[in-house]
Amino acid sequence: MGGYSFKVFRYDPDKGPRHRYDTFELEVERGMTVLDCLQRIKATLDGTLTFRRSCRSAICGSCAMNINGKNDLACHLQVAGLTGRRVTVDPLPGYPVIKDLVVDMEEFYRSIEKVMPWLVRTSPFPDRELPQSPEERDRIDLAVNCILCGSCTSSCPSFWFNPDYLAPGALLKAFRFVFDSRDEAGAERLALVDGPRGVWRCRTIFNCEEACPKLLRPNEAIAALKREILKRSV
Ligand code: SF4
Ligand code: FES
Repeated sequence: MGGYSFKVFRYDPDKGPRHRYDTFELEVERGMTVLDCLQRIKATLDGTLTFRRSCRSAICGSCAMNINGKNDLACHLQVAGLTGRRVTVDPLPGYPVIKDLVVDMEEFYRSIEKVMPWLVRTSPFPDRELPQSPEERDRIDLAVNCILCGSCTSSCPSFWFNPDYLAPGALLKAFRFVFDSRDEAGAERLALVDGPRGVWRCRTIFNCEEACPKLLRPNEAIAALKREILKRSV
């Protein structure tokens, strides 16, 4: 495929408060992902370049970053699919940067925790499995494949200006359990997301849907939660 120029965000707290961009020239072969290129830069050009990665298969969510202005998974995005020969790589926006492309996800995980991301049963469990019909499973389809990469919340202007907003990632998780036929804590969870820090802070900008590498639809989940809150209040 030829030569590409990678302009990469750099920040090292030990070297002062300012960030900079470094540009690396790289020969890219067909089939290489952005993560492959960052790995090669780290192995051959600058061993100090810091970024997260683990599975390299778009399932762990570690390598989420902002590539040419869009949040995506570096291990999923092929360089051949990008326009032009200049690739700009930034950390996910909206989160504090720890070093280079590594951001602090603490706030994101805390928001997920706030919506009780587990199945709650108050009635006794049956002796065997708790069945769910295909239709019941379909109802939560837009949320179950979330890999907690944080891209949706990172892309949300309401979150940038209100860090205490639960934001799309956590609201999608709330949806996943509120509408799960086996869960029995819907009312409690809806109370957690009802209010100015919850679903009503969403301004339907839809960045979250654009940002999700798993093609999930946090915006639809938020709309469904709003409807459910209103339905149960009359
Ligand atoms: S909804 Fe999509 S973008 Fe948001 S955390 Fe889950 S996988 Fe990532
Ligand atoms: S390394 Fe796991 S999603 Fe990219």
